[in-house]
Amino acid sequence: MSLLDKIKNRLAVVGVVGLGYVGLPLAVLQAKTGYRVLGFDQVVEKVERVNTGSSYVLDVEETALREVVRAGRLSATTDFGKLRGCDVILICVPTPLTRNKEPDISAIVSVSQQVAAHAHPDLLVVLESTTYPGTTDDVMLPILTATGLKVGDNLFVAFSPERVDPGNRSFKTHNTFKLVGGVTPACLKIAQTFYEQSVVKIFPVSSPRVAEMTKVFENVFRSVNIALVNELAILCDRMNLNVYEVIDAAATKNFGFMPFYPGPGVGGHCIPLDPYYLAWKSKEYDLHTRFIELAGEINEGMPYYVVAKLQRLLNRRGRCLNGASILVLGVTYKADVADPRETPAVKVMELLKREGAHLTYVDPFAPTLELEGRSFEAVPLTGALVARSDCALILTAHSAFDYDLIVRHAPLVFDTRHGTRNVKGLRENVVYL
Ligand SMILES: NC(=O)c1ccc[n+]([C@@H]2O[C@H](COP(=O)([O-])OP(=O)(O)OC[C@H]3O[C@@H](n4cnc5c(N)ncnc54)[C@H](O)[C@@H]3O)[C@@H](O)[C@H]2O)c1
Repeated sequence: MSLLDKIKNRLAVVGVVGLGYVGLPLAVLQAKTGYRVLGFDQVVEKVERVNTGSSYVLDVEETALREVVRAGRLSATTDFGKLRGCDVILICVPTPLTRNKEPDISAIVSVSQQVAAHAHPDLLVVLESTTYPGTTDDVMLPILTATGLKVGDNLFVAFSPERVDPGNRSFKTHNTFKLVGGVTPACLKIAQTFYEQSVVKIFPVSSPRVAEMTKVFENVFRSVNIALVNELAILCDRMNLNVYEVIDAAATKNFGFMPFYPGPGVGGHCIPLDPYYLAWKSKEYDLHTRFIELAGEINEGMPYYVVAKLQRLLNRRGRCLNGASILVLGVTYKADVADPRETPAVKVMELLKREGAHLTYVDPFAPTLELEGRSFEAVPLTGALVARSDCALILTAHSAFDYDLIVRHAPLVFDTRHGTRNVKGLRENVVYL
């Protein structure tokens, strides 16, 4: 049976490499579509948790995971030799930065080598990790074709970026437009047919490079707009204007404006990292992408701005940061997700500690937090705890927080996320970014 027929008849075996925030939901989606799915990861604990139906990703419901595991449609392994049994391989490994903010695609390289070592004719390989334009063609393809397989003939290679927005209840992988760029027209046809089985809308593009560029551009767009509104927030602070009132007013325009909101910095595995992938690549073309660098500079400066403003707020109340009790509310990188990666809260807390502040934190999504090599534990939110602090500092506005309680008890609330906006009554103790 041809690969295309195996895909159409849901007889293809699908390998998902990298069972993280992207890979695990994707593996469950493919299993629910009817494929037999093999998940690969190098972390034994993740593999064991998948095989026992215990979810570690908030967007993957345990019942859904258990159902596909029990039905024998999803299993996980650390044995990359089992890649040999896969007809379709989806690669979802991390793409971090080095210390010098250069792309680290070593996971893509090492997985490509594993795939090549176990490759066979009639294989579809799709890279889903976010990366700079050219990775699929210039890095992955040479490794895969060194096997002797012929791309577009008996080997099909494509790039299809994952666009999942963790915690988004309306849009998941299956109902978000899926971009697909194939190395050849045959690669595109096979990859497009594969995704059509599980995703409602496919948007084919002319090459992997276009798909790679589009994904990075989407994240640069967010980074630049967040930086713009962060700068506006700093200006509004100096001009004694409420930045949220300005944004809400601007958002009444039905065209040409899209609201973005300021915050204590950007976090997660995408916005703080991906733009630098493009900035790095652009230098090869004698171009310095100034917007990207500037946005990074402004966004990375926000934790310093938060600490400086907090210092000012305490000063006005006759207190100094050194020795002050700061209750940090929310430490994950965004509301209602359990992901602490690159969260600006860590930077803010490190800066506060350096100034001698005493820190306590509350976060239902992060029971522990690593700070300068030490592990801290979250405490439960109570009125007494809030009242004991010199300032309640909201860094992530989880919807589970009792904002009425926070505003009622805190001597001072520094709300960097507009989390208290719906609290009624007197709020003279609340200060925004
Ligand atoms: N998290 C998001 O919201 C999001 C959204 C869209 C795109 N992406 C992109 O998707 C990719 C994956 O991101 P993620 O958030 O799922 O990362 P993650 O760290 O949650 O998951 C990656 C997984 O890959 C595994 N892994 C690492 N190296 C491996 C190797 N050599 N072999 C096998 N497994 C390996 C890790 O153990 C981990 O379980 C990144 O390129 C990211 O930029 C992420």
